[in-house]
Amino acid sequence: MRSSTDPSAQYLGELLPTAKISALGAYVPPQVLTNEDLSRMVETNDRWIVDRTGIKERHIAEPSMATSDMAFEAARCALLQRGINPAEISAIILCTVTPDMMFPSTACLVQDRLGATGAWGFDLIAACSGFLYGLTVAAHLVAAGTHKYVLVIGADTMSRIIDYTDRATCILFGDGAGAFLVEASEDPQLGFVGYLNEIDGAGAPFLCMPAGGSRLPASAETVKNRQHYVKQEGQQVFKFAVRKMAELCEGVLSKYNISKDEVKLLIPHQANRRIIAATAERLGLSEENVIVNLDRFGNTTAATIPLATCDAMSQGRLKKGDLVLFAAVGAGYTAGANLWRWAY
Ligand code: UT7
Repeated sequence: MRSSTDPSAQYLGELLPTAKISALGAYVPPQVLTNEDLSRMVETNDRWIVDRTGIKERHIAEPSMATSDMAFEAARCALLQRGINPAEISAIILCTVTPDMMFPSTACLVQDRLGATGAWGFDLIAACSGFLYGLTVAAHLVAAGTHKYVLVIGADTMSRIIDYTDRATCILFGDGAGAFLVEASEDPQLGFVGYLNEIDGAGAPFLCMPAGGSRLPASAETVKNRQHYVKQEGQQVFKFAVRKMAELCEGVLSKYNISKDEVKLLIPHQANRRIIAATAERLGLSEENVIVNLDRFGNTTAATIPLATCDAMSQGRLKKGDLVLFAAVGAGYTAGANLWRWAY
């Protein structure tokens, strides 16, 4: 296998490396917002939230904490776990819909704080599919042989764009961050297998934050009309998510000629327990083959998949050689599925 830093490895026909996930990191802020707390803020109750979503509590960042702060903590954990110097990172992909500010990118802020002096990077906006897309990009950067270590971070401070007077959305989201380090695998049998990602912009109106961009810049009116908050048509998104998640999971398996029985673990985006259950049922997976942790964190948007993977790891549910299926659906619409053979 060629050295992953050898620029000539990018030419087709060369023996290119397979990318593997080599370290994980996670961070959630300490403050917890329970269903009970929410029932004192809006007309809702624990029973409704648990029955309809599976969520019991979520973590909320204190006012002084922004997305780059959580991203930095998660990234630092991953780098410590791998034991590499931040200066060795080739690229940082920061997946978020709640950057510290519109520009500079949050990737720049994290790069500076980490001391990742050899990295380039960018923010990737794909809502709940963001981390999955970041992972797909990282796999290709490493497999091209042009990048040694790619840091993929999913971080969102959803509490900053949630309307805590809207009971249909405020019960769903929480804050958090997670990070994966991606690098070349010495064993071509372990690491990235493949992906099936897609976007469908016809779904844009059903889940969005209407104001604050070039279409509807911030004004006294947009603030008065509460247009700087997440707006969602829940049922539309729910129906799409149930159909798409299962379709793409089956699709990625058939694209690579892999049978459903080979999937050891489904690590899905954590939006609603009913969406996850429907996907698992379609794949014929039982509870022990599916990671669900939204009861503790709610929907942390780009952070759900790395947070769930960290949980899987700490619970001893991920072993070297296991076939892992990551899947997500989110605003856009964005959707995708990635297959990885766990490498450590
Ligand atoms: O991660 C990004 C992608 N997002 C998603 O995947 C979210 C997808 N959507 C969902 O998860 C679900 O649609 C929700 C959890 C958001 C809502 O569940 P639902 O079963 O679709 O409820 P609904 O919107 O159809 O509302 C049913 C009823 C309504 O009352 P009426 O009109 O039947 O009287 C709502 O007003 O529940 C009411 N309701 C609530 N009641 C108590 C809505 N929110 C609440 C609430 N507490 N928090």
